[in-house]
Amino acid sequence: MKIIDVGLGNRSYPIMLSAGLLDSVGRELRQRNIAKRYVVVADDRVAELYGKQLLDSLRKEGLSCDLLTFPHGEASKNLTTIGRLASSLALLGVDRKDCLVALGGGVTGDITGFVAAIYMRGIPFVQVPTTLLAQVDSSVGGKTGVDIPEGKNLVGAFYQPRAVFIDSRVLVSLPPAELSNGLAEVIKYGVIYDRDFFDFLAGHRERILQLHLPVIEEVVARCCRIKAAVVAADEKEADLRRILNYGHTLGHAVEAASEFSIAHGMAVAMGMVAANKLAVAKALLARQDAETINNLIAGFALPARIPTEYDRRLMKSFLKTDKKAVGGKPFFVLPVTIGKVIITDDVADELIDAALSE
Ligand SMILES: NC(=O)c1ccc[n+]([C@@H]2O[C@H](COP(=O)([O-])OP(=O)(O)OC[C@H]3O[C@@H](n4cnc5c(N)ncnc54)[C@H](O)[C@@H]3O)[C@@H](O)[C@H]2O)c1
Ligand SMILES: [Zn+2]
Repeated sequence: MKIIDVGLGNRSYPIMLSAGLLDSVGRELRQRNIAKRYVVVADDRVAELYGKQLLDSLRKEGLSCDLLTFPHGEASKNLTTIGRLASSLALLGVDRKDCLVALGGGVTGDITGFVAAIYMRGIPFVQVPTTLLAQVDSSVGGKTGVDIPEGKNLVGAFYQPRAVFIDSRVLVSLPPAELSNGLAEVIKYGVIYDRDFFDFLAGHRERILQLHLPVIEEVVARCCRIKAAVVAADEKEADLRRILNYGHTLGHAVEAASEFSIAHGMAVAMGMVAANKLAVAKALLARQDAETINNLIAGFALPARIPTEYDRRLMKSFLKTDKKAVGGKPFFVLPVTIGKVIITDDVADELIDAALSE
């Protein structure tokens, strides 16, 4: 078992990784004495696939548990679902000493974490992420929340889990498109933080694409180490944590302009390629390095070009109204070499036009 510590003082927690861990989550919870009673929250798909296995693992340790489900998909990530779950918890008589278990992808993690943050003003929760994206990104770091009609993730809280349990085996049932979504974030970590990891990805491309589990687990562990280090240094995104937005400033604009028909990971891949173009145009990044990054993105079958049918002007207006833009000025995370980025809002309009072209 690999264990990575997210160092946040008295709110520190471990990320545990091991193939088959789903069967021993109950034992780990009992040994860590987090709670006596647990409520597992999952979407309908994941509940069907892994709900029983997780409940069995808790029950065989003598831990009492219930399962609450909601329909899968981003459309469930809203305040109605939060209200329903909170009512179900109240009807079950769940109190402050009880613990929620988020079993699923980022949608489940964000919803469950937010309910945990606000039900009775806060009850413990743990994460059992089942998508690659959730394993490398959303389950670590304590951002929780939901969408409202006015925008994605506009309502939420920083609320850290007590532990994260990662079982690489659950990824075998993941649809290939969901795997690609996660891979874009994986490449992101190499570019923003760790040249050695970037080279590891290039060297193990085939095995990663074949979902060779020992390699996948190493990939996930290295991403978690990077995210844990970044979050420990800047939990609330005042400074360093903003580097995690590489590919996301332009990516979000592409996602929004496509009315979310382009998946997040695909949009981030396009956003990373566009950010590289900006970095080269600003003479921050060598053309050769940009090509190396773009080749890795293509090597993982991720798209580079923003489809021509989407309106560039609309994308630019989304850039200005992005919730992370300050005074209508978006910030960009631009690589200066592979493994290091800078953050800047000093990017001329013409350069943005050029990056969004083609
Ligand atoms: N909190 C954060 O820091 C953070 C970071 C990144 C993304 N997010 C959020 O994460 C969400 C996206 O997460 P996601 O991509 O995991 O989406 P998701 O949770 O909707 O999962 C995608 C689909 O895969 C299915 N699924 C999950 N695990 C499976 C498995 N092992 N086998 C088969 N099917 C499985 C789900 O039922 C769902 O249909 C977005 O809402 C995004 O805003 C949050
Ligand atoms: Zn992302």
